[in-house]
Amino acid sequence: MVNFKSEITKEIAKVVNLDEKEIESYIEVPKEVSNGDYAFPCFRLAKSLKKSPAIIAEDIKVNIRVDENQITKVEVAGGYLNFFVNKESIIEQVLQEINKNEEYGNSEIGNGKKIVIDYSSPNIAKTFHIGHLRTTVIGAALYNIYKYLGYHVIGINHLGDYGTQFGKLIEGYKRWGSEYNLEEDPIEKLTEIYVRISDACKEDEKVLDACRDNFKKLEEGDPYCVELWTKFKNLSLKEYQKVYDLLGSKFDSWNGEAFYVDKMGEVIELLEKSGKLIESQGARVIDLEDKGMPPCIIVKSNGSSTYATRDLAAILYRARTYDYDKALYVTSYEQVLHFKQIFEVAKLLGLKQKYIDGLEHVSYGMVLLDSGKMSTRGGNVVKLEDLLNEAIERARKIIEEKNPELENKEEIAKKVGIGAVIFNDLANSRIKDEIFNWDHVLNFQGETGPYIQYTYVRTKSIVEKAGGIPEVSKVKTKNLLDDSSIKIIKLISNFHDILVQVTEKNEPSLLSRYLIEVAKTYSNFYNENRIIIDDEDVQNARVYLTYAVSKVLKLGAGLLGIEMPEKM
Ligand code: ARG
Repeated sequence: MVNFKSEITKEIAKVVNLDEKEIESYIEVPKEVSNGDYAFPCFRLAKSLKKSPAIIAEDIKVNIRVDENQITKVEVAGGYLNFFVNKESIIEQVLQEINKNEEYGNSEIGNGKKIVIDYSSPNIAKTFHIGHLRTTVIGAALYNIYKYLGYHVIGINHLGDYGTQFGKLIEGYKRWGSEYNLEEDPIEKLTEIYVRISDACKEDEKVLDACRDNFKKLEEGDPYCVELWTKFKNLSLKEYQKVYDLLGSKFDSWNGEAFYVDKMGEVIELLEKSGKLIESQGARVIDLEDKGMPPCIIVKSNGSSTYATRDLAAILYRARTYDYDKALYVTSYEQVLHFKQIFEVAKLLGLKQKYIDGLEHVSYGMVLLDSGKMSTRGGNVVKLEDLLNEAIERARKIIEEKNPELENKEEIAKKVGIGAVIFNDLANSRIKDEIFNWDHVLNFQGETGPYIQYTYVRTKSIVEKAGGIPEVSKVKTKNLLDDSSIKIIKLISNFHDILVQVTEKNEPSLLSRYLIEVAKTYSNFYNENRIIIDDEDVQNARVYLTYAVSKVLKLGAGLLGIEMPEKM
């Protein structure tokens, strides 16, 4: 398919002194049809060129040479240079590509570059709460999209399976383990034990000592402590797996924090060698004052390692094992400082610059319930499994009301309920806090997952009613030249570009917004046009367009981790 945007970019690059990437990032798709299909705004060039944007646009216009078969008109309007592409040519290309490519919009632009995505990463023996939903869902969407574009992606669940809290849990279990049936509700029971032992620690210093001793033993590999730790971990994983099964989450690696325990020595050695590891109040730290940050603690005063040390060991390991081009960390913005610190300290490990440059924190906002902020400490924790099951249950009720005759109601309720929750999580730019409200999440008319699914189901039934997908050779482009058809064609032709933008900003919401736009534009088309009609040529064109929409909606939603029901 001709990529109009990159063709335009290449031409502009010949006459403007900017690199192609920058030019491409300026190019817009105008809202008004009268402003063409692509626009290059010249405002940002005005300062450096000391000319008005309109004059710059005129200069570019007279100096570029575009292929007139593809771009039929170039026009200056205000400070913009507007490009009008050959509509027949876009239509032709979209139809051909939709017809021949099962994975429409995919590409090899990733060229096998390696992307490590660290996501989900819940903390063992703690509730998998709604806050962890976002990392799990955003991480999975990025994973799928990078892969679709030809990157080699490695998904890592960096489990929080290490830390002094395990010394406490072991002590609690030693004392009262027999009173609890862990199998019944492992996380709940472990939390109860944890709270009980923490209270005991507060009352009696000796208990705390015993806990510390357990942790030390665990670090030294004491068989009994390791056995208990393994038990807690396996029980927790079994619980988390229920959520992963509901969401369809998969990981290539489950190496959590504990995996790095025997790899931290090297971090400390390297930092010692750098001469920057200093003593401070009994601890060993890297001072980051000149970077405007508090020190990064590498070894605590009691000799134990930290979350940061383990993350540094993980950077070393991932650089060597995966030779990554990008290493993304998907966590809430509460960890912004942590990642700034470790990315700074990582510069002292003697790694190649590419590994340092590749580190990126992909942060996101909180999930707020109507009742306020989620927290793991102060109660108010909604278990993700419960939330997902509630979504399915609510979807089932809606389906029951709307379409009681439907077959496979259970399966469809699952796709709708889970899809609704996932979409809601990806619907807005990730850094924004998300307000979770059931009426919105499951609103079939809103900008929601169910709306996309509903539009998809409608396209399927239209194609079915028409007797199936017409042969592409029977579709005449002239029947798709009207405004409402061409709008859809142009959107569809942008699909790949949207995916590229998602990877450039690590922002899956760009794809969610896009899918909403496709669905809405199609709904308008549907309201304005009859599709099943006497004129066979026109019908073929409109049905094919409908099929193209259904394909893009399904592929796009699939990349976000949302399954489509075929009926609902
Ligand atoms: N376990 C951490 C938490 O739940 C997230 C870990 C993120 N990944 C990392 N490499 N630090 O807050």
